[in-house]
Amino acid sequence: MIAIGCDHAAVKLKDAVVDFLKSKGYDYVDFGAVEGEAADYPDKAILVAEAVSQGKADKGILICGTGIGMCIAANKVKGIRCALCSDTFSAHATREHNDANVLTFGERVVGVGLALDIVDTFLSTEFSGAERHVRRIAKISAIEDKYFK
Ligand code: RB5
Repeated sequence: MIAIGCDHAAVKLKDAVVDFLKSKGYDYVDFGAVEGEAADYPDKAILVAEAVSQGKADKGILICGTGIGMCIAANKVKGIRCALCSDTFSAHATREHNDANVLTFGERVVGVGLALDIVDTFLSTEFSGAERHVRRIAKISAIEDKYFK
């Protein structure tokens, strides 16, 4: 299950990603926004991030104007490793190395063709499982344990 959401700045690109998920046969839950809806990015980021952190979705996709606000907000949720990717190399690397579970990008930054390639790469790349990457992710979890209530 893929959870997806966007703010008012990214409805067109979010809808294109939803069409892509449908065409590839992914199950998804769309938290909006819809055309004409005013949506602050943290309000959508938390819906997608909670769906992933609670195990209701395997991965999340969040889109705003830049992808930056969504990324900052999603990473405030325990267990979320959210990556802002504007290229396929980063999308591939963040799955292999960071086991990122939420992807963000910006409608004002990437075109629809590149965005769909980024989504495809992110969703089809597995975590490498290499010891050094597992160790580093465990250190991120330790930071969460220190600073999250
Ligand atoms: C909305 O204008 C814009 O600030 C938002 O979509 C996003 O880019 C924030 O990071």
